[in-house]
Amino acid sequence: MSILQRARPNIRALKAYSSAHMEAGSEGLRLNANELPFAPEAGCGHQLNRYPVPQPPELLARMGEILACAPEKLLLTRGSDEAIDLLVRAFCEAGQDSIAITPPVFGMYQVAADIQGVAVETFPLEEARGFLPDLPAMAEQISPRCKLVFLCSPHNPIGGQIPATDILAFCQSLAERALVVVDEAYVEFSSQGSLVEQLHACENLAVLRTLSKAWGLAGARLGALAGHPELIQLLRKVLPPYPIPEPVRAVVMEVTDPARRKEFQQHLHIVLAEKARLQALLQQSPLVDKVFPSQANFFLVRFHDSRRVFEACRAQGLHLRDQSRQPGLEGCLRITVGSPEENRRLEAVLEALQ
Ligand SMILES: Cc1ncc(COP(=O)(O)O)c(C=O)c1O
Repeated sequence: MSILQRARPNIRALKAYSSAHMEAGSEGLRLNANELPFAPEAGCGHQLNRYPVPQPPELLARMGEILACAPEKLLLTRGSDEAIDLLVRAFCEAGQDSIAITPPVFGMYQVAADIQGVAVETFPLEEARGFLPDLPAMAEQISPRCKLVFLCSPHNPIGGQIPATDILAFCQSLAERALVVVDEAYVEFSSQGSLVEQLHACENLAVLRTLSKAWGLAGARLGALAGHPELIQLLRKVLPPYPIPEPVRAVVMEVTDPARRKEFQQHLHIVLAEKARLQALLQQSPLVDKVFPSQANFFLVRFHDSRRVFEACRAQGLHLRDQSRQPGLEGCLRITVGSPEENRRLEAVLEALQ
């Protein structure tokens, strides 16, 4: 049985909206889409009177090259946030199905489930296990109504990464039962590779990637879901007809051009060097109880008095993410690694508190 059998029956049977672009492509005289024949002058220089290509082939090819994935295994979305929402809507019947998550974790899985009226099965991470999920136990305890399991790796907000072999074994144990969705928003910062390369091994594995983090394109809103081609085709039916605005396509093509990879590598290099420096500094600070190991571009830090640190930073216009109300994260703040100048501002505030 294919994992697609676990998708909502009405989505499997859904006849996708047939857009003007799908019917005629972008060549020739377009009198089929009720567009204005005149393009307003726009500072970005793009012709915006025409609907954009739904999944631009050159952008799919570029993302395929970046992610080491065949384009037919990719769906381009407005950030991973949209992919999370699409998955929940395509697989989970309101009031009937559930998703599984490992709190404390990135909040959008829960929000997407709440919007769709879908239950959430929680498998809390424990500090004693290094905040890594007990995947064999989860596979046993996940209920039959669970359609999607979201694993965040590297994990937000803690920073740990689950070994690839553990995730693959987990996928096997849930084969035909649930789709395992691995959110790799921060994987470029990690020393462990992406699971995209393992897609061929598991039909019930999907990987979420984004240009919002290491690529510095959070404002452009581009993410990709990598998965089995049949899964991509199913989700395309749920995705709105024209999800990728033309200026976004153009800007992503420009920034991710292979000739500019050096710039990407340089930014990554600076962030990782600053991360190492900041880590050493935090570990020695008398304000700090613990710095959790991180494979991402942030640290989860437990302070002796996190409220004091949080407020002192805020008073200087410096915002940290308070995690102290999350289960198991008492006294913890999440700190994003900034530029060298930004990090020095943080250091100055911490020094003044000592
Ligand atoms: C783990 C994780 N997944 C997904 C996202 C959303 O990313 P995007 O900007 O691609 O929607 C974030 C953003 O912070 C995140 O931390």
